[in-house]
Amino acid sequence: MKKTGRENSDFPVQEYFQGVIDGLTDDLKIVDRDYRVLYVNRTAARRLFKEPEQVLGHKCYEVFNHFDRPCPYCTTQKTFETGETLHTEFGYTDTEGDPYFFLLTTYPLRDPRGEIPYVVEITRDVTQEKRLEQEVIRSRTLKAIGQFAAELAHEVRNPLNAISFQMALLRKIKETCTDTACVGQISEALEIVNEEIARLTKITEDFLTFTRQESLRPVLADVREVVETALDLLRGDLDERGIKVTVETGEDPCMARIDRDRFRQVLVNLIRNAMDALPEGGQIRISVIQEGDGTCVLSVSDNGPGIPKSLARKIFDPFFSGKPKGTGLGLSIVKNIVEAHGGAIALVPSTSGTTFRITLPGGNKNA
Ligand SMILES: Nc1ncnc2c1ncn2[C@@H]1O[C@H](COP(=O)(O)OP(=O)(O)OP(=O)(O)O)[C@@H](O)[C@H]1O
Ligand SMILES: [Mg+2]
Repeated sequence: MKKTGRENSDFPVQEYFQGVIDGLTDDLKIVDRDYRVLYVNRTAARRLFKEPEQVLGHKCYEVFNHFDRPCPYCTTQKTFETGETLHTEFGYTDTEGDPYFFLLTTYPLRDPRGEIPYVVEITRDVTQEKRLEQEVIRSRTLKAIGQFAAELAHEVRNPLNAISFQMALLRKIKETCTDTACVGQISEALEIVNEEIARLTKITEDFLTFTRQESLRPVLADVREVVETALDLLRGDLDERGIKVTVETGEDPCMARIDRDRFRQVLVNLIRNAMDALPEGGQIRISVIQEGDGTCVLSVSDNGPGIPKSLARKIFDPFFSGKPKGTGLGLSIVKNIVEAHGGAIALVPSTSGTTFRITLPGGNKNA
C-alpha cells in the first residue's frame, strides 16, 4: 500500500473512520462495476428512510432511483470508463413543484495495479446555493431594468417638453390667426412635433430591442449574405449622401450559426453610425473573412473623424451618445446581439477613421 505520510499521526483513523463518515452532511456511496452499493454513510441511507444495512448489496439504480436498469447518462459508469473525477449538477422538482438541486461528484478508487474496481459517489444538496444565486441574478436584473427605466424616462422627457411647447404655440397661433400668413408658422411647429414623435418612437423601439430577452433562432448562414441584405436596406440613404461602400470577402462562404434578422440589425447599426460620422463622399469598408480555425471575422470601417480615446470606453454603454440627438442604444444593442451569438466585438485602435471588429464562432457545415 502506498504510504501517504499520514500513518504517523496520533489520531486513530481506523477507530473513528465510521463516525467521521456518518457525520458528513453529504451523501456518500461506494459502488462496484455491477452497480452494487458496497458502502453508504448514514446520511445517504436516511434520505431513503432506511438504515445503511438495508441498502448495502442492492443495485444503486434500483434503490436510489427506482429504475430496473442503469440510469441513462450514468456518471459513475463514465468515471469507471475514463478514470476521471466528474462533477454533475441535477435539478428536480419536489411534490409541491419547487425545484431542488444536487451536485454529484464521482471519483475512482484505484487498486495497487491502477485498475478501478470502485467509484465513490458524493451527493451534495445545493438547493440553497442555487436559490441564492438565482436571487442575486434576479435582483441584479431588476436593478439594471430600474436604471434603464430612469434613463428612458429622462430621454423621453425632452421630446415631450418640446411637443407640449409646440402644441401650446399652435393653440396660440390658432386663436389669433386671421390670415394665411400664419399657415407657415403652423407648418413649422407641426414639423417639429412630427420630428419629436419620430424620435420618441425610435427611443422606445430601441429600448424594447435592448431589453428583449427573446431567444435567438440561429441557423447556419453565410455572413456575406447578411451583409448584402443590410446594405440593400440602407442603399437609398447611402446613395443620397454620396457614401461609397466596398465589401471585401474571401472566395468561400463565411459560415456561422446566426439569427439572420438580429444579425442584420448589428450591421445596420454599425453602418448607420459610420454614415452619421461621414461627410458627403465618405467611404465605408466592410470585410468578411473566415479564419483557419473557422472563426468568422467581420470588420466595418469608415474614414470619418474616428472616436477619441477618451470616449472609446463608453461607446458600448447604454444611453451613451456623442450626438446631439442620439439615443445611445445602437452599440449596446450590437454588443448584446453579438455576445448572444457567442461572439465578441471591439473597437480597433487606430489613428484614422473607425473600425469595429466582430469575431463569431464558425458554424460547422454539417451542423
Ligand atoms: N463610426 C463611428 N465614428 C465616429 N463615432 C462613432 C462611430 N460609431 C459610434 N460612434 C460614437 O459612439 C456613440 C455611441 O453610438 P451608438 O450607436 O451606441 O449611439 P448613437 O448612434 O449616438 O444613437 P443610436 O441609439 O441612435 O444609435 C455615438 O454617439 C458616436 O459618438
Ligand atoms: Mg448609433
